[in-house]
Formats: sequence, structure tokens, C-alpha cells
Amino acid sequence: MNTNPIGIFDSGIGGLTVAKAIKYTLPHEQLIYFGDTAHLPYGDKSTAAIQAYAVKICNLLLEKNCKLIVIACNSASAAAYELVKEYVASKAKVINVIDPAVDYITQNFKNKQVGLIGTKQTVNSNIYLEKIEKNKVGIALHALATPLLAPMIEEGFYDESVSKSILNQYLSNPILSKINALILGCTHYPLIKAQVIEYYNNEIDIIDSSEHVAEAVKKYLINNNLLTKKRENVDKFFVSDYTRSFEASTKIFFGEEVHIEHYPLWQ
Ligand code: DGL
Repeated sequence: MNTNPIGIFDSGIGGLTVAKAIKYTLPHEQLIYFGDTAHLPYGDKSTAAIQAYAVKICNLLLEKNCKLIVIACNSASAAAYELVKEYVASKAKVINVIDPAVDYITQNFKNKQVGLIGTKQTVNSNIYLEKIEKNKVGIALHALATPLLAPMIEEGFYDESVSKSILNQYLSNPILSKINALILGCTHYPLIKAQVIEYYNNEIDIIDSSEHVAEAVKKYLINNNLLTKKRENVDKFFVSDYTRSFEASTKIFFGEEVHIEHYPLWQ
């Protein structure tokens, strides 16, 4: 048993979709969430910039004694997971959002056509392709960068005509024309999952990594005897740049509005 918190970070508040799934799966665990809103979006940043941000955020989460760090952002998982894992080393386990989704896909979609939508950073890194091909199960991946979606969702446009028309424009791209499943390769996208399902008339599988990540976290804590039996501390939510609208948007991503504190990590 270990009552230390689980650290979770993202470029903004989109990673709260992952935090929500972890909280649902492991209600006794204390969460410490950090949204790097000063640098949002990560999807358009260079690999070197995201790596530098990730290391500094991990220092903060380690100072707060996190037993496990979850990179709740596909762009940061693509750009910085290997580096962060080495940097954090034995101080904490690091889980990214890509591996649990890839495990699920390779087990369930052998010899199928799988689509991926995500930020430029995630898609251009080819990380999903590399990880899927390593498993050699005959999956053909069709990836499309959809850079307008994360900022649109973060701004609150996710269930109306504006978002529908942008989404339809992306999903009608010929790259995605023959897919059997679609990976939502960005932690903001669970908010548009219903629209994606509607676009495909519920005929293909839509893969949202948050529940697979929560299961991976649970499995790791159980296997390493690190589970908390009883909640001792409240969850904490920090952002590197505070605006009232971020706080209001937590309700959409986390299911309830939470108090977020400004943590000036870059000053
Ligand atoms: N949440 C980030 C991800 O999963 C996307 C948002 C961003 O570009 O910062 O890729």
C-alpha cells in the first residue's frame, strides 16, 4: 500500500479526460494534475520544446512525491516519453497514453485498416505506426493530422455546427476512407467522440485511450503493491497560466468543475 499521489500532466485541460477515467477506476487515489496552459497547444511545438517542458513538470510532480506519472497527452507522449522515463528513472513509474491504446489495437484489430487522428506532433512523429508495426499483426495505419480540433475543443466548441463542419471536413479526407476503427489520438478528443460516432453511423470502432490508460495504471499499482486503500488527501489541479475560462472548462473535461490553482512554473 502507498498513499502517495498519482501525477498527471497535459498541455492544458484536455488531459482531464484521462484523469477522469483514472478517478473512476481508482476512486481512492489522490491525483495531482498539471496543465501547461502557458504553452498550449503542444501539438504545434517542436520535440525539443516539449521535452524541456515535460522534464520541468516531472520535477514538480516528483517534488510532490508522485508514485506514478501519467503523460496524459499524446503529443508529449510522442515527443518526450522515452526521455522522461530515463530522467525519472527509479523515482516513479511513467505511463504514456499511446502504449495502452496500441496494446488494445494490436490485440483486437489484427489485419484491419485503422485510422488515427491527432496533432501534427503526434502524427508526424510516426510513433503509433512504429509501435503498431513492431507487433507485426498486419494492421495498416492511416494517419491524419487534425490540428484545429484541440484548440477548438479547448475553446468550448465541441458539440455544435462549427465543430461538426470542421470535423466532417477532416473525417471525409480520403486517407480515412476505408478504416475499420479510428484512434482518437489526442486527449481532447473524447469530447467529440459522440460526433465522430455519428459521422460513421456507429459502423466502426472509435478508440478512446483514456479507459485503457486507467486500466494500465490500475494494473501497475496492483502488481507493485502501490494501491491506496483509503483516500487521505484531496485531488489538486494546477495550471501554468490561469484564466477563469480554464476553470469553467474543467466541468466539461472532468465531469465536475474543480478549483484550479495557478502554479507559475515558468517564472
Ligand atoms: N492533449 C494534447 C494531445 O493529446 C493535444 C493538445 C495540444 O496540442 O496541446 O495531443
